[in-house]
Amino acid sequence: MRPFDQIERLERAEVLDGPAAAIRTRVQRLLSDRRVKDALHGVWLGHPLHSALVHVTLGSFVSASLIDLVGGQRRYSTGLIATGLLLTPPTVAAGWADWSSAHPDQQRVGLVHAATNAVAITCYAGALRRRVRGRSGRLLSLAGAAVSSVGATLGGHLSYHLSLGANHSDRVRDLAPKGWQPLGLLADLPDGQPVRRTTGEVPVFVLRRGQQVVVLADQCPHLAGPLSGGEVVGTGGDARVVCPWHGSEFRLDDGCVVHGPATAAVPRFEARVVDGALEARIVASAGAPTA
Ligand code: FES
Repeated sequence: MRPFDQIERLERAEVLDGPAAAIRTRVQRLLSDRRVKDALHGVWLGHPLHSALVHVTLGSFVSASLIDLVGGQRRYSTGLIATGLLLTPPTVAAGWADWSSAHPDQQRVGLVHAATNAVAITCYAGALRRRVRGRSGRLLSLAGAAVSSVGATLGGHLSYHLSLGANHSDRVRDLAPKGWQPLGLLADLPDGQPVRRTTGEVPVFVLRRGQQVVVLADQCPHLAGPLSGGEVVGTGGDARVVCPWHGSEFRLDDGCVVHGPATAAVPRFEARVVDGALEARIVASAGAPTA
């Protein structure tokens, strides 16, 4: 059995679903203020906040343990442990926010990831406490590194294997056929109701509003939910589509994220009507159509 087969078994451990549901309800209640939730997801950053913070937090802890391992100056490792502990609350809060909008297999692994990290943090807090009292705390620091390496492995599995935090619509710009592509007759589109069409192999969200048509990738950047199954809310420049899976909201005008958990914009297509036929072409980046 390969070492990572154990983690894949964890993905299917339904025994974790009960605790996950109870914790999820609690986390969602704590994050009922959408501004706080968006801030923790990293909507303001355009990038998941947890992954940005965790490198500094974990890096501080592991660096401290390495100094302790080679017998380096204790004041440096103490400073690094204190830095890691200082960054722990926002890192943990951002992690729980992302976890609360994850798929069940991701939540199972995430739960063990969080529990493992809680043990590691307790070790580092114990090491710091001992140092404040004039003791070494070296063993606790080394134990913290050993446990946190397990937590980090699970975190890596969540990011790289289960793609939590990845941009799930990023490939659309590469996969969509270049140039203007036919999307059927304008008259066949219902007014005000999003529908799914395809251009090449790429599904697209199409919304007709009178004579205007919005075309976006039909793949939510958060976890690839189908935006064409979502609700359209707001009016004018504030009109948004709400992802049916976890409620991310994207502005129809430009595909930008208004509310998370998504942190990346949904790829946008230019649209035009030629002799009653709708055509669209992918926009390579903000405001730049492809050739
Ligand atoms: S898939 Fe999660 S918000 Fe869209």
